[in-house]
Amino acid sequence: MDGYTASTYGDRIADLYDELYEGPPNPRQLDTLEELARGGRALELGIGTGRLALPLVARGVTITGLDSSSAMIERLRAGDGGADLPVIIGDFAHFDLDEEFDLVFVAFNTFFALLTQDDQLDCFGSVARHLTKDGMFLIEAFVPDLARFDRGQRTSVSHVELTRTVVDVSIHSPASQRIDSQQMVVEDGLPVRLLPVSVRYAWPAELDLMARLSGLRLLHRWGDWDRTPFGDDSMKHISIWGK
Ligand SMILES: C[S@@+](CC[C@H](N)C(=O)[O-])C[C@H]1O[C@@H](n2cnc3c(N)ncnc32)[C@H](O)[C@@H]1O
Repeated sequence: MDGYTASTYGDRIADLYDELYEGPPNPRQLDTLEELARGGRALELGIGTGRLALPLVARGVTITGLDSSSAMIERLRAGDGGADLPVIIGDFAHFDLDEEFDLVFVAFNTFFALLTQDDQLDCFGSVARHLTKDGMFLIEAFVPDLARFDRGQRTSVSHVELTRTVVDVSIHSPASQRIDSQQMVVEDGLPVRLLPVSVRYAWPAELDLMARLSGLRLLHRWGDWDRTPFGDDSMKHISIWGK
């Protein structure tokens, strides 16, 4: 998508994000992130509006955020506990903070917002440089399912309400492992809103290789936040690497 940058997604969706992804986060997800932070410091890549970070801060977890979108961070600042949360505006492919973390995590498929293999590999390198000796890096991401696409395209509907519907359209490029999508918000009496999102997907094995190239090794891989062992039927994975 021409003109799409690291901040496009967040800047375009910020005012609607919490409404489209409403509801409290999975408590098992919060339990796991709290446990892995082990009373130390956590860094969330792509912290967004603080959907996960703010409930974790409420549990006493010390969190720093990194995000490319000032519009998303403005929303986070307005949330409970968001005013004082340390956030760096920047690209999580390449970062250099003067700190080490016990846990670095990137949830909700956000790692795939990095649109090239080089950027994804650089992110692993950046993370490895910021982990404490026994620090951990956690990614929550979908397992690519190419059967979703018919001749490289997919159309689906994510919300149907009385005066509003949200239609998702995507084009898939297997050669670049990219999916370019628009969420089209159609609301009675209002102009159509376009919420663009591009991802570069990767299979778990490719992520393991990136980890290995960055001096990290796989510690755990689960199919969900209940820690179901990852297997052939898993539609997502929660992967944790350490030094
Ligand atoms: C799907 S939202 C996830 C927000 C939050 N982690 C959650 O689970 O609700 C993705 C976030 O990643 C941010 N983001 C996308 N690409 C980025 C990049 N290259 N560097 C930093 N942040 C990025 C977006 O601005 C957005 O806030």
